Amino acid sequence: MPDTPHTAPIDGPHHVAIIMDGNGRWAQARGRPRLFGHQAGARRVRDVVEACPGLGIKYLTVFAFSTENWKRTQAEVAGLMSLFKRYIIKETKTLAQNGIRVRFIGDRLRLDSKLVDLMDTLEEATKGNDLVHLTIALNYGGRDEVARATKRLALDVAEGRLRPEDVDEETLPKYLDTHVLPDPDLVIRTSGEARISNFLLWQSAYSEYEFIDTLWPDFTAEELERLCRSYGARDRRFGAIPA
Ligand code: IPE
Ligand code: IPE
Ligand code: MG
Repeated sequence: MPDTPHTAPIDGPHHVAIIMDGNGRWAQARGRPRLFGHQAGARRVRDVVEACPGLGIKYLTVFAFSTENWKRTQAEVAGLMSLFKRYIIKETKTLAQNGIRVRFIGDRLRLDSKLVDLMDTLEEATKGNDLVHLTIALNYGGRDEVARATKRLALDVAEGRLRPEDVDEETLPKYLDTHVLPDPDLVIRTSGEARISNFLLWQSAYSEYEFIDTLWPDFTAEELERLCRSYGARDRRFGAIPA
């Protein structure tokens, strides 16, 4: 684990979620193809994961591919899918040895079976770990997740396992892909865009947001530490009056 340069302990976020945006622009600025940016972006993930224990981050969730990203060119989509496969093959051993528990969220049905096999293998290889819980959102969309969850909930009602009068705001999250995860405390989006692009819609109802200009391939553990410190200074009121 890298030495984190802080002295005072951080009263930081327990769960950080990141919309890793800006790979394409980072590559374009260097006159390189977009996939070059995606490769550089994938390499940043390891540093960020390794910084988590020192910052008190137990859960890290990263947005790798959205349900809308299929609209990109066939070449970019294919390049990303092959990058995901190579990433899993390359990182499985390190993640397993470093105490990282990996989970994937999103709809696996549209992904190719070789990729899904690799995802299953990585989840299985890290399922005994508990140092940091890394969740990778792949073919993930918040609306799609809520729709899939509602379908399962409706099936439970139709088949008599759930009574409509028992449905409340604790019910739906049990059907979401994130059912074992706490809600994110802090959502970071890189690349200067101030939108959430269908990420963790239900779960981020009370999250703090940071929209920063850095392009994802330039994001560092130092910047993460700065954001965690600034999170610690915020007053999360959840609708109540200041303490
Ligand atoms: C984020 O970078 C990665 C994915 C969405 C897969 P982009 O590819 O969106 O980069 P920009 O936004 O075009 O710079
Ligand atoms: C969001 O980025 C999705 C990921 C980072 C995986 P996009 O680049 O796809 O979002 P938009 O299109 O700018 O909203
Ligand atoms: Mg983008």
